[in-house]
Amino acid sequence: MIPTMADLELTDDVPAAADDGVWLACIECGETFAPFDAIRYTCDDCDGLLEVRYADLPTFDEFEGSGVWRYNAALPFEEGVTLPEGDTPLHEMPRLEDDIGVDSLRVKHEGMNPTGSFKDRGMTVGVRVAQEVGVDRLACASTGNTSAALAAYGARGGMETLVLLPAGKVAAGKIAQASLHRARILEVDGNFDQCLDIVQDLAQRGEAYLLNSLNPFRLEGQKTIGLEIMEEFYADHGEYPDRIVLPVGNAGNTAALYKCFRELVKAGAITEEQVPKLTGVQAEGAAPMVEAIEEGYEDTRRWEDVETRATAIRIGNPVNAPKALPGIRATGGTAVAVSDEEITEAQRDIAGEGVGVEPASAASVAGLRKLRNEGVVDSDESVVCLTTGHLLKDPDAAAEAGNAPEPVENSTEAVLELIEERSSVAETVRRQASKAADSPLVPGLVAGGLGLAYLYRKFRSKQ
Ligand code: F0G
Repeated sequence: MIPTMADLELTDDVPAAADDGVWLACIECGETFAPFDAIRYTCDDCDGLLEVRYADLPTFDEFEGSGVWRYNAALPFEEGVTLPEGDTPLHEMPRLEDDIGVDSLRVKHEGMNPTGSFKDRGMTVGVRVAQEVGVDRLACASTGNTSAALAAYGARGGMETLVLLPAGKVAAGKIAQASLHRARILEVDGNFDQCLDIVQDLAQRGEAYLLNSLNPFRLEGQKTIGLEIMEEFYADHGEYPDRIVLPVGNAGNTAALYKCFRELVKAGAITEEQVPKLTGVQAEGAAPMVEAIEEGYEDTRRWEDVETRATAIRIGNPVNAPKALPGIRATGGTAVAVSDEEITEAQRDIAGEGVGVEPASAASVAGLRKLRNEGVVDSDESVVCLTTGHLLKDPDAAAEAGNAPEPVENSTEAVLELIEERSSVAETVRRQASKAADSPLVPGLVAGGLGLAYLYRKFRSKQ
């Protein structure tokens, strides 16, 4: 197949294949298909990605209720298999906003969904479609969160679930979820992209219904993140955010947000100028989207060897790139790579405002800080960072990033001694630092440094 430019324009023509005003369209060749008459994930003719299209697109005043299904006027069904999901907080982050230096910073915490990640929004729709097309075995490849969500929603819908995970590279909380929700878990000696290759094969052979983000219906559910952000930000600020920064793995969310904005523009709910700049963040060790943006590629080039502590986004072949790259470009956004250290630092920063997120989620804030420092993001911008998964998804990463527990003898005196010791060291450091500020005396700095080194050893004794 000769790669062609993805055509993401929403047309007014309703094809004969439409069922109740809903159809599937190939973004490469434009072929249209009935939505539920057969199971297909890509175009029969050219293998391009499919997108769900609608005859009628709603404006904000057509939404009522709460959660994902508040937006059913923009979805293929009235209701789905629900736990329920969506309606996640849009946190203010006053200290971080100041520290990073933007006009306003909000964090949309998708970790507050029922299974602790944004995947629930896609699954409530995807599992409903699985019921519609009459399958009983659901499958996905996953870096962890998709498998947790699929297992829970599959269980809710009374279906069998099969998940393929890269062995040794999935955080503990996610495996625990998939396991308890009764998924059959296959650990593959390979990475996520190789797991996805296998699951796609299984799906093509009719062995299971694929619920990775290659499935266009999953992205319909995830579109509601954008709808919630736009409604809530507008209610609080009287305008829409200038920019949305999000972590990118398979680029499903980036594609879903872009679809959300294209539909809002087409419906006349917002103008093109009001579309936030979509800004993707990847880990340095798994950054094919950043490479494609920097090099001007039409599609990503597969990275065979990927590595990052943010295991959720340890992905080298983002299947939704043909939908997501045009979104980043058309909205005036960008993509940036951050180091694992920057990710951990951002995880601590977000946690310091009381919000607990897993490493991949923190990539959004790390990316924002980097782009702000580089002057790509202006100080007068209003920004929403998406945090995609909960802190408890990856307890090992959280414990490594946080304070180490200090062993203490079983007595009040011993506890008092330890906390006093800690506060007296802290006080010494504070005094030395303020002395050093008054006079540039070397001994003060040295003492402060020694105090800091002592503190560091004490609190990080675990490492
Ligand atoms: N953040 C988290 C916490 C994720 O779990 C994922 C993807 C992403 C970001 C990236 O989102 O793929 O839409 O660009 N996790 C998938 C999984 C791949 O299997 O759970 P994307």
